[in-house]
Amino acid sequence: MAVREISPDKPEPKSQRYGAYYIRQIPPPDPYLTETGPGTPMGEYMRRFWQPVCLSEELTDLPKAIKIMHEDLVAFRDKSGEVGVLQRYCSHRGTSLEYGVVSEKGIRCCYHGWLFDVDGTILETPGEPAESKIKDNLFHGAYPAMEYHGIVHAYMGPPDLIPHFPRYDIFEIPGAEFAPLSIPYENNWLQTYENHQDPFHSVFLHQRIMQHFEEEFGVLPQVHFAVTDDGASNRNTSKRRIDDETVWVRIFHILPVNDTFLPSTFQLSGAPLYFQRTFHFRRPVPIDDENTLFIGWRLHGDEFPGGDWTLNGAGTTDMDGQTKRFDYEETQRFPDDWNAQGSQWGGVTRHSIEHLGKTDIGIALSRRVLKSILDGELPHAWPVPASEQPDGPPLTKVYSQDTLLKLPRHPDPKVDSQLMHDLGEEMTQVIVDSAEQFEDQGAHQENVIARFKELEIEYREKFAG
Ligand code: FES
Ligand SMILES: [Fe+2]
Repeated sequence: MAVREISPDKPEPKSQRYGAYYIRQIPPPDPYLTETGPGTPMGEYMRRFWQPVCLSEELTDLPKAIKIMHEDLVAFRDKSGEVGVLQRYCSHRGTSLEYGVVSEKGIRCCYHGWLFDVDGTILETPGEPAESKIKDNLFHGAYPAMEYHGIVHAYMGPPDLIPHFPRYDIFEIPGAEFAPLSIPYENNWLQTYENHQDPFHSVFLHQRIMQHFEEEFGVLPQVHFAVTDDGASNRNTSKRRIDDETVWVRIFHILPVNDTFLPSTFQLSGAPLYFQRTFHFRRPVPIDDENTLFIGWRLHGDEFPGGDWTLNGAGTTDMDGQTKRFDYEETQRFPDDWNAQGSQWGGVTRHSIEHLGKTDIGIALSRRVLKSILDGELPHAWPVPASEQPDGPPLTKVYSQDTLLKLPRHPDPKVDSQLMHDLGEEMTQVIVDSAEQFEDQGAHQENVIARFKELEIEYREKFAG
């Protein structure tokens, strides 16, 4: 077992009963992956992506102060409908623009009335003499911003490297609708990100301990963790035999830099169920190194049964076990993701004193992928500037899904287990191949479902022995 050194001069103490005295030092976090301020490797990588920064519904007649990756900003929608994300402190003498007046065009500082357009142009410096050149020679700090499905996004990277706004296949699922949501977490972004490569926490936190989810989640899954063929994203495929007749195959897909795609947590008991796709697309966006905005969409519509999507919004979601409870005793009695992730090492993950097991292979893989990207080993994992993609952004494929198949339990538990593994890998490959073949999401779904039904027939014979 790993132990920590007290000092280089003393022999390494043994891990022992009542041995806390020997392991009192708390090492620093892993800055390479956890720190996202300006100039940090991870921070600069994250800034190359469009990042969600707040919900559209939060932009009213008042500006909204936001903090993203340590940068104090203000977001607003001016009266002409343009959205702006500006540096928060006025270029004149630093008054916060959260007290500014949203104007017909831009935002006006409350202190001396300077008026800033969404691109940082200084439109007026009303107290200065008419011949003043200040506004001709100066721009206020601004980031490109846009709204998409009810979420304000900003691009905070180098202006000449701005990528297209990405195109995800799940945005084009026929009938899919999007309910935006955001939840502030009091922890580093990485532990919220890594939570998606941890399907085992659903067994314990969300079912056996707290019953947030349906009872099928309490079955310990067989999980295959893998890095996708291009080396840049992670997936895990969980197989559960939930009764003598039913196998549940659940796939999580996690894309750089902070795209997490969660399959449904509702209505999983009715087999057969074929290719029910991701229902939460959320990104943990660093506020600073100790706080994270978990922001994205709850997909809804006929393809996404269960729950009450209308409960999603700023600070709320209909998915149980995600949000902060304000009563401390209640928090202790009913811990959820917010508490479990938020309390890891007091808020910022410390990798060197963890004790990873087999269930944590996905965590180790996802860290390795991120490090490889930052080390420059995966140049294709960096966003391509829009100037180099004249035909627009390519389609980004998302594999997350749930499927329940009617498959009898094999009399030999080892064979049953091996067959579930083989089935899970074949199904994952079906999705990957189909996503390459079909851009149209209706055709993609039809193809995957047809192939899953064929596999179900094929594997029914194998499981029957
Ligand atoms: S501080 Fe903003 S106009 Fe003077
Ligand atoms: Fe969770």
